[in-house]
Amino acid sequence: MGTLEEKVAIVTGAGQGMGSAIAHSLAQQGASVVVNDINETTAKATVSDIKSYNSAVISYVGNVTDIHDVEQMIKHTENNFGHTDVLVNNAGVLRPTPLLQISEEEWDYVVEGNLKSTFLCSKAVLPSMQQNRWGRIINISSSAGKNVSTIGGAHYTAGKAAVLGLTRHAAKEVAEYGITVNAVCPGLIDTEMVRSTISDERKYEYANIFPAKRLGQPSEVADLVAFLASDQASYITGASIDINGGDLMI
Ligand SMILES: NC(=O)c1ccc[n+]([C@@H]2O[C@H](COP(=O)([O-])OP(=O)(O)OC[C@H]3O[C@@H](n4cnc5c(N)ncnc54)[C@H](O)[C@@H]3O)[C@@H](O)[C@H]2O)c1
Repeated sequence: MGTLEEKVAIVTGAGQGMGSAIAHSLAQQGASVVVNDINETTAKATVSDIKSYNSAVISYVGNVTDIHDVEQMIKHTENNFGHTDVLVNNAGVLRPTPLLQISEEEWDYVVEGNLKSTFLCSKAVLPSMQQNRWGRIINISSSAGKNVSTIGGAHYTAGKAAVLGLTRHAAKEVAEYGITVNAVCPGLIDTEMVRSTISDERKYEYANIFPAKRLGQPSEVADLVAFLASDQASYITGASIDINGGDLMI
């Protein structure tokens, strides 16, 4: 028996990388899962992988920075599974641009992709969680949110720091309803976001300076998220939990 039997989870940006690993992990714990991504092909691929061991999985293709898409995602979830117990705000975007070269348009794209998406999805699921007096919101921030991004620009660092503020504030407002809101702060994790931004050579250079001498794996972050989603984590809220192989210890 998994720790999330009869729970319904939405994972944003679950077409690849950490989101896909998180969707797998929650499904393995028995949750019904809504796989969101803006990319239809990858969202459907995650769903078909999970279907091999958990049939209660559906996709919702949409942009989580768009309020209309977010509202439709919640409706789609309710129509299929009744309500939402767990929301993982994983979708995010990174650009490596130096500050003086960041355009206004790129600033908005990166900050909204990390912060507005988290706000819109959280706001959309909270009424149903409050009614059920149980809920879990897990926001994927970054070590960047506590320090400075290793490979992203100032907009990425600022957006991820703001996600930590939103996490604490939301946690305070909803704790009395049995809802926890936490952030996970991964260091460098071996996903497409990293592979498409830096060369293999730079990846190995970074790995060498981390105490663990390697990058993290998406499944390692997914295990932490599954724990935070479970009943065992009921008294953890407003926290920002590091998972970085010792790269940042504060
Ligand atoms: N990889 C790392 O080293 C690292 C470290 C710390 C934090 N993070 C954060 O972890 C999360 C997952 O990162 P990843 O490395 O798996 O990234 P990734 O780029 O491999 O995957 C992100 C997924 O989110 C989707 N997405 C992006 N914007 C979206 C939107 N508006 N609506 C719906 N889907 C959208 C993309 O299509 C993609 O499938 C992100 O929030 C990222 O900022 C990553």
